[in-house]
Amino acid sequence: MKQAIAISSFKGGTAKTSTALHIGSAFAKFHKKRVLLIDFDAQANLTTGLGFDPDAHDSLAPVLQGEKKVKDVIRSTCVKNMDLIPADTWLERVEVTGALAADRYSHERLRDILQELDYDLIIIDTPPSLCWLTESALIAAQHTLVCATPEFYSVKGLERLSQFMESISQRHPLNVLGVLLSFWNIRGKSNAAFLDVVERTFPKKLLTTKVRRDVRVSEASIHGKPVFETDKDSRAGEDYRSVTKELLKRL
Ligand SMILES: Nc1ncnc2c1ncn2[C@@H]1O[C@H](COP(=O)(O)OP(=O)(O)OP(=O)(O)O)[C@@H](O)[C@H]1O
Ligand SMILES: [Mg+2]
Repeated sequence: MKQAIAISSFKGGTAKTSTALHIGSAFAKFHKKRVLLIDFDAQANLTTGLGFDPDAHDSLAPVLQGEKKVKDVIRSTCVKNMDLIPADTWLERVEVTGALAADRYSHERLRDILQELDYDLIIIDTPPSLCWLTESALIAAQHTLVCATPEFYSVKGLERLSQFMESISQRHPLNVLGVLLSFWNIRGKSNAAFLDVVERTFPKKLLTTKVRRDVRVSEASIHGKPVFETDKDSRAGEDYRSVTKELLKRL
């Protein structure tokens, strides 16, 4: 493994999954990186967003339990150079079952599993809570990309997330790669106030590019593909390409 990025946010609906899908695809498609996406959320939205049926494939759950090899749960996707480890409902509460329940260091297992893989970039999508899955992802990755929306509760949640990351980084190195705002409205009345909170919570981390609202993101997920495959000139596609370029400079 060369570099891993955990996509994180404390709140739901901050475009984490869409971000994981689109920056992963952009790294693979436009920058020739060999990318592995990991769906580490029992909701399995990244899995369905790439056209896979979560009930038909293994997730990382049996690998974490020591029952399967990681290579056996990797699937190739419609995007060249990009693979996926799907999610399923077994990920929910995986840490309280089987071999994991008795392991004090269970949250370090993901990191150890990923160590043996050979990708330029591993991108891990996480659930919208500070649970065992999210903690494991932040321990496994050296970088995290924080997702937020320009709403009061979203930016307030950044403070909790920042404290959580602080406590993890005391034991495991973790770099905040950036903060990405999605559902951005350039004419939003409270924009200055939101930007101010982000700057105070994560100084100098806000990405210049914001992802604007674009219905093509949800349309593409119905087709099980990223917007680059369904709509070459979409606004969201343009924004995600620009986000990816910014991230590349920071990696
Ligand atoms: N830029 C955008 N414009 C319009 N719709 C979007 C955009 N980004 C994401 N969406 C849609 O908003 C919804 C939530 O996005 P997404 O699933 O990526 O968020 P999430 O943070 O992963 O949510 P959760 O916390 O439930 O995992 C989805 O239906 C998605 O298709
Ligand atoms: Mg999600």
